[in-house]
Amino acid sequence: MASSALLLLLCVCSLQLFLASAQRPKALVLPIAKDAASLQYVARLTQRTPLVPLQAVVHLGGGFFWVDCERGYASSTYRPVRCRTAQCAAAQTKSCSSCNLAPRPGCNTNSCSFFPGNPFIQTSTSGELAEDVLSVSSTDGSNPGAAAALPPRGPRSGTTGIAGLGRNRVGLPSQLAAAFSFRRRFALCLSSAVGVAFFGGGPYRLLPGIDVSKPLLYTPLLVNPVSTAGVSYKGEPSVEYFIGVTSDPAGHRQEDGLGGTKISTVNPYTVLESSIYRAVVATFSKERTLQRVPPVKPFGFCFNSTGVGSTRVGPAVPQIDLVMQSDLVFWRIFGANSVVVVNEGVSCLAFVDGGTNPRTSIVVGGYQLEDNLLEFDLAASRLGFSSSLLFRQTTCANFNFTSTR
Ligand SMILES: *[C@@H]1O[C@H](CO)[C@@H](O)[C@H](O)[C@H]1NC(C)=O
Ligand SMILES: *[C@@H]1O[C@H](CO)[C@@H](O)[C@H](O)[C@H]1NC(C)=O
Repeated sequence: MASSALLLLLCVCSLQLFLASAQRPKALVLPIAKDAASLQYVARLTQRTPLVPLQAVVHLGGGFFWVDCERGYASSTYRPVRCRTAQCAAAQTKSCSSCNLAPRPGCNTNSCSFFPGNPFIQTSTSGELAEDVLSVSSTDGSNPGAAAALPPRGPRSGTTGIAGLGRNRVGLPSQLAAAFSFRRRFALCLSSAVGVAFFGGGPYRLLPGIDVSKPLLYTPLLVNPVSTAGVSYKGEPSVEYFIGVTSDPAGHRQEDGLGGTKISTVNPYTVLESSIYRAVVATFSKERTLQRVPPVKPFGFCFNSTGVGSTRVGPAVPQIDLVMQSDLVFWRIFGANSVVVVNEGVSCLAFVDGGTNPRTSIVVGGYQLEDNLLEFDLAASRLGFSSSLLFRQTTCANFNFTSTR
């Protein structure tokens, strides 16, 4: 069955959820498609009353669920959040907006306003905090329940938003957990085709019937005390997901929030601080089978892929380990996630040089996350990760989206 909830949205537009379902689902599931042009991961949802399909870019480090209200937002369940209310406080905003035009979604007087910090345009547009209905399929871990009823004709494209999965109270994981009374936990399994996200917990069954919720390795999720958003209040911690990687020479500096390792779905490829990047390139350079060819942007190390062997987990290239809190806990990156084909016969190391003084030393990007299951347990403040599912003869594109009623 489909489970609907009123969600706090930021109307440039952001949403807040309200439970609108009699039965409480144990978990929810969302399809997430990779957009080949932008290399972003796009969740397919339905929203509003009556329901319309919505494509929302997944932003792991985003603090809001926001949608574009400028293009004919019409919904009988849309309600702006008033200033100085508990919901406004939950969003940790201190702004109150007024609008001189006729009231419409995104433009109401005495509504709680916010600067969502859009990662795709380097400006922060002001938005109105509001709530409206969001509909997501429930799941038993193997299939979705009945798909949310879609209107026969609706804006297929042009209805866009950003699904912020940040660790704050108005991020989608916390709102869904609060609305449906399940644990603040979600899992992401990105794919170059159509992957999947689960909210609420496992099992996470991928065809042919493999539960990838275990075994996982676990590492603590760290809180960066300094916000990494474009616009923030002083003393506001980052809503992004940081982990401790010992191979980061800068470490995780508590006082200024610099350094550290974060996971980001909006970066198509992992960005490494220069010295770390050079160390990885040096490992690849030593490999006799990798005959270097002129690099293709944005990459710095490319090679002739003719004659490079292949394995179950991609091209036969050196493994890259992100070592966590102990030598026994590492995220091993194999060829399928470390090498990208750029031209016929030419492949590149799928990492980008982030320069000598980046704000964050390692930003693990989307390509490195594909076909790996990541479970973000906000309640326990830990990240579970599977390493490449190709070893287990499945992929993140293998969730069975055929619904059962
Ligand atoms: C790659 O190597 C093969 C065989 O040695 C050669 O024929 C081909 O031209 C090379 N390609 C590039 C892009 O250098
Ligand atoms: C997917 O799920 C449906 C509904 O349970 C089932 O009928 C179908 O056989 C499944 N597909 C595969 C490939 O197992």
